[in-house]
Amino acid sequence: MLTTLHSPNPAKPPLAVLSQPLYAELANSLQSLVEQGTLRPGHRVPSVRRMSLQRGVSIATVLQAYTVLENRGYLEARPQSGYYIRPRAPFLSPEPRMARPMAKPSYVGVKDLTAEIVERSGNADFMPFGAACPHHSLFPNKKLARLLGSVARRDPTLISRHAMNWGYEPLTREISRRYLQGGVPLAHDELVVTIGCTEALNLCLRAVTKPGDTVAIETPAYFGFLEIIQSLNLRALEIPTSSREGICLDALRDAIKQNDVKAVLVMPNFHNPLGSLMPDEKKQRLYQLLVEFDLPAIEDDIYADTHFGDVRPKPLKAWDRDGRVMLCSSFGKSLAPSFRVGWAAPGRYLERVRRLKFTNTMGTPVVLQKTLAEFLRDGGYDHHLRSLRRAYHQQLHLFAQTMQRHFPEGTRYSRPQGGNVIWVEFPAGVDTLKLYRDALKHRINTAPGALFSVKDRYNNCMRMSCGLPWADEVESSLVKLSELIKKQL
Ligand SMILES: Cc1ncc(COP(=O)(O)O)c(C=O)c1O
Repeated sequence: MLTTLHSPNPAKPPLAVLSQPLYAELANSLQSLVEQGTLRPGHRVPSVRRMSLQRGVSIATVLQAYTVLENRGYLEARPQSGYYIRPRAPFLSPEPRMARPMAKPSYVGVKDLTAEIVERSGNADFMPFGAACPHHSLFPNKKLARLLGSVARRDPTLISRHAMNWGYEPLTREISRRYLQGGVPLAHDELVVTIGCTEALNLCLRAVTKPGDTVAIETPAYFGFLEIIQSLNLRALEIPTSSREGICLDALRDAIKQNDVKAVLVMPNFHNPLGSLMPDEKKQRLYQLLVEFDLPAIEDDIYADTHFGDVRPKPLKAWDRDGRVMLCSSFGKSLAPSFRVGWAAPGRYLERVRRLKFTNTMGTPVVLQKTLAEFLRDGGYDHHLRSLRRAYHQQLHLFAQTMQRHFPEGTRYSRPQGGNVIWVEFPAGVDTLKLYRDALKHRINTAPGALFSVKDRYNNCMRMSCGLPWADEVESSLVKLSELIKKQL
């Protein structure tokens, strides 16, 4: 069976992702057993002949599957003895270093490259390592499409009735019920449903700042944050951020003392691009710092549902006692990116955010909100999230292993515990902007580090988006990237 990435350009054949020839199916199922811990390092796997009998496939298919697993670093062949699960060391390389603090806040310059990379991410002629868009095959599209049709058929007036709303109540109730289950007491009428997380971030920032104000942000930062800050004519103050535990609180404290900071914009759960996860105790200290300096925080929690551990991490909002944390999120990474349905829980700024929502887009299509409410209510979401998390985790693992095998020695990698991106720091001398241009000639889209900072930082870094299911083309593109990098060195 051949699945293809959608190509907006019918003249060119799209990049094809070969999904599941027999050997790949076998390799992936064995790999899942390793990921789940059923097959452990040192275990001997069935011999080629026995596996062929067990699975009803040819010896050649088993051999090919075992070779794939060897290449992926899961299996090793021991002479005269058979195939064994290799000791797992997915991240042998060191982690990226933390940036130095920024001396003064700065206006953000327009970066045409950001738009270029995001636009190209919809073009199936390019290997999508650039934008953090998960592949469409990871979502329950058919189920949602059926539900959408059914919702519209049951009440066609949803399409023609005026849709001024802060949020369709059954959906906001479902969202708040999920937060409650995770230990975050959020009432449904504290939420404003928005057009994606992007609108939520825009509205919340606008609610607590005016042009010229300074916002403290993590560095590196999601380029969308920089674009929003630029468009609102705000200044950004970059705070060093660890790839493991998030924003450095000492540096944040110093920055707040020395500058007239009006708000803090953070991503404690599975930061984009670092993938870091702030421990609960640090979230609590961050909240105390906000109280001490009487500052609001805008929290982007879009990746929280994609945790690899057992429990969804709590947002900073869980510690909020006086409504200063403005939580923003959406279904963009977890369920239906194109529905563009997100939300804000703006705490004490609720009325301001509602007014801004009114002037910005007035409402969010009810037919989409109702579809999502029914999907969440009927229990399909948790089941879907389990397989999505498994897929993200597995993809990240394969990307990390392959990059470590091929990229130059001395390259550093973040170790995300959720989400779908890895931050890569190459040895000094690698120019990722040049790499970006060179890779385009091979139809590979990348995200150079420079996009993630206000000023010229991270020229030897890159964010690797791992949203694409593993396929031979993914591996060969990573190998091609490694050749281009090595040429630079
Ligand atoms: C960290 C982060 N926040 C927000 C967004 C945008 O979310 P949405 O598509 O819901 O507007 C993205 C999209 O990539 C993101 O990575």
